[in-house]
Amino acid sequence: MSQPHAARRRRLLTQIGDGVVLLPTAPEAVRNADCHYPYRADSHFLYLTGFAEPEAVLLLDGRSGKSILFCRERNPEMEIWEGFRHGPDGAREVFGFDEVYALSEMAARIPELLTDRSQLWWPLGHDEAFDRRVNTWLEAVRAQARSGARPPSHYGDLRVLLDEMRMVKDEDEIALLRRAGEISAAGHIQAMRAARPGMHEYQLEAELLHAFVGRGARYQAYESIVAAGANACTLHYVANDAWIRDGDLVLIDAGCELQGYAGDITRTFPANGRFSGPQRDVYEVVLAAELAGIDAVKPGAAWHAPGDAALRVLAQGMLDLGLLSGTLDGVIESGAYRRFYMHGVGHMIGLDVHDVGQRKLHGQWRSYQPGMCTTIEPGLYIRPADDVPAAFHNIGVRIEDDVLVTADGNEVYTAAAPKTIAEIEALMRGE
Ligand code: GLY
Ligand code: MN
Ligand code: MN
Repeated sequence: MSQPHAARRRRLLTQIGDGVVLLPTAPEAVRNADCHYPYRADSHFLYLTGFAEPEAVLLLDGRSGKSILFCRERNPEMEIWEGFRHGPDGAREVFGFDEVYALSEMAARIPELLTDRSQLWWPLGHDEAFDRRVNTWLEAVRAQARSGARPPSHYGDLRVLLDEMRMVKDEDEIALLRRAGEISAAGHIQAMRAARPGMHEYQLEAELLHAFVGRGARYQAYESIVAAGANACTLHYVANDAWIRDGDLVLIDAGCELQGYAGDITRTFPANGRFSGPQRDVYEVVLAAELAGIDAVKPGAAWHAPGDAALRVLAQGMLDLGLLSGTLDGVIESGAYRRFYMHGVGHMIGLDVHDVGQRKLHGQWRSYQPGMCTTIEPGLYIRPADDVPAAFHNIGVRIEDDVLVTADGNEVYTAAAPKTIAEIEALMRGE
């Protein structure tokens, strides 16, 4: 079951010599009294283990090459209240660790494993409580100095190594991302089919959740945005409690989380099933920009290429619609376009919806490689103003897909959600 995780651990071990990696999972968060927020393991931890129980700590031993997990013991009484725990024996069998111990053994075993190693890697500075525990274990090694024990002399931020590994997805991750994309697309289709003027935005959120959870994706990758009419001009609108009126466009930005992997799709459609003339004009600009951005995603292309391509189409559209005046290069250089398009064209996606990874290295833009995944999500958001043609007031359109870089170009693995005007109107007519 956990071969991909074991393979990732082996790849990490090749980078640390005789050093040691320590990685805790995420802490639990109390909501109130006895209630916790739904537990979500740390993404780096999931990447290396697939193990989703709280409190666990992973140790990779560069000298022996072993993967060692510390986890909760089985506890029949607690399990009656909180559910199944693998316990050390179960975790070793199911997840393929070399050794698994109870949490209570960390204090004795970890200092021993940190003795006389050149390097120690952990998510340094990420969690003060864990930094203090690491220091306690190092103190225990220092306390043995008279008998010749030495603590590591080099400390590194483990996130630097893992962020880099996670930028390029392996086959198992790609399969999960594709499935998260398909389920997310099914949610958008269900919401478009259900949409009618007179509903509340949250009723469409319910359609998204129904489609996600019913397909085994229990969580949203982030709070869904269901924004009708002027609400679409608020980029992170999550109130989702307004009426949807006849003539409104509805912008939905939503994606499920499947086994930790995120989908992230935006579609914008008319509540009554028919785009008006001005809505159509704005929509066609954004769609052309999205297609230009997607077209620029390919191996070897610089990271900024899709953003540049999409921006030229959007800015030309702003000029053609009379939102801006001047020349294409002029409005790009001056930044005048930011009045109607004020965010980037996309972000990496994986275990985190805004996934880890550096887009620049040593000040230079990186280029795309096969296995990277990015969103492409241009938009136009037109707030009312005296100098803006009235027909476009309060129109907000964003179109977003998730794109895998392949050996010879890209694959839009969220394409099942319709996005041409003809496809959307046909779907909403029930065709
Ligand atoms: N839904 C968050 C984003 O599109 O980046
Ligand atoms: Mn999104
Ligand atoms: Mn996004």
